[in-house]
Amino acid sequence: GYDISSLLKETGNVTLDVGFVNTASCKSAITYIDGDAGILRYRGYPIDQLAEGSTFLEVSYLLIYGELPTTDQLADFTEKIRRHTMLHEDLKDLLQAFPRDAHPMSVLSAAVSALGTFYQDSLSITDKDQVELSTVRLMAKLPTIAAYAHKKSQGQPTLYPDNRLNLVENFLRMTFGFPSEGYDVDPVVAKALDQLFILHADHEQNCSTSTVRLVGSGHAHLFASISAGIHALSGPLHGGANSAVLEMLDSIETQFGGDVDKFVEKVKNKEDGVKLMGFGHRVYKNYDPRAAIVKKSADDVLKKMGVNDPKLEMAMRLEEIALKDDYFVSRKLYPNVDFYTGLIYKAMGFPTEMFTVLFAIGRLPGWIAQWREMMEDPATKIGRPRQLYIGETERAFVPADKR
Ligand code: ACO
Repeated sequence: GYDISSLLKETGNVTLDVGFVNTASCKSAITYIDGDAGILRYRGYPIDQLAEGSTFLEVSYLLIYGELPTTDQLADFTEKIRRHTMLHEDLKDLLQAFPRDAHPMSVLSAAVSALGTFYQDSLSITDKDQVELSTVRLMAKLPTIAAYAHKKSQGQPTLYPDNRLNLVENFLRMTFGFPSEGYDVDPVVAKALDQLFILHADHEQNCSTSTVRLVGSGHAHLFASISAGIHALSGPLHGGANSAVLEMLDSIETQFGGDVDKFVEKVKNKEDGVKLMGFGHRVYKNYDPRAAIVKKSADDVLKKMGVNDPKLEMAMRLEEIALKDDYFVSRKLYPNVDFYTGLIYKAMGFPTEMFTVLFAIGRLPGWIAQWREMMEDPATKIGRPRQLYIGETERAFVPADKR
């Protein structure tokens, strides 16, 4: 019964843009996306060149500080992070208190939130040294927390970081190793995971990054803002899509006897709101450039690891059908970055619940860079969207006994 155009007239300058489809919330110099052309660049550098030639820590430096580091700058950044990988023992006790079947994304966000209670000497949003310290602490501790969350869910003992290893190797060892035994990191796995982190490192004003900015715009500290971002990422329409893809492939096997065509028909008929998970993107109306890199990597990694997963075949067949089908073509629905990542994570040995946690580790430098950019911009204001009120007009209160 509400006429939106007259509501808009009444409110003067207010525009209605549900889901911010056309509204920019900020200016940013970090990430460039041309969704129609399928282009993604961090600070001007094409994603395929970074994925091929760089490392996750180097890309993190680029995102946060704006330029590729010199050898000395990278060594310094790496060393600072290396020195902060340990968790306070009390924080470990806190993690122990969570139920064993807790989702690791909830544990991750809660632990990051708790960092704000353990590290009160780096909560300032204006003191450059403190912001730097909280940046380093987050970059160093998130992989440790993530590995703890995994170990806890498996009912296995946790490992301390081994700082002779680099960030990704250390994370793999803490995730899959055991305290009593040595653990040899597979270089193929470490390289592939490092590359996946690069691909996830930033994606301009997506749901979780916008959340980090919005929370930070009220001058909440970095730990609080990132903790909120982790929660935003957990949803199946955002970072949770990578685990949803595997669940979908499982259900095609169990409910459709592996018949991909039958499943696609169900999606096209929008039965029970079923979507082709890992397909479609708000910004990309072309092949997601990250998906192209991941698809190749999935093929390589699975081969190199000697894994023969029929789900890879199924995913490829699904993609082939969708890319030819008018439903998907007319809506410009292409595979996004999450379509193939789950298959790689599974081959590496990660359980499905950990997939979105891996996304969070990768996205962390982007969130930090965006938060810092916002805080340094004198034009920043608290984020406060408007609304169009469609509720009751004024009416008189009725006492309980008269209702
Ligand atoms: N499967 C089937 N149909 C789809 C899909 C899909 N994956 N995605 C969109 N559509 C359809 C919609 O039903 C709609 O159809 P209609 O025009 O007949 O109503 C049309 O395509 C447009 O879709 P919108 O929902 O308007 O697109 P929006 O930009 O709002 O959503 C989103 C983008 C959320 C990513 C969506 O494509 C989706 O839900 N995909 C599946 C989940 C997923 O993979 N998310 C990961 C995104 S990438 C990331 O976070 C890293």
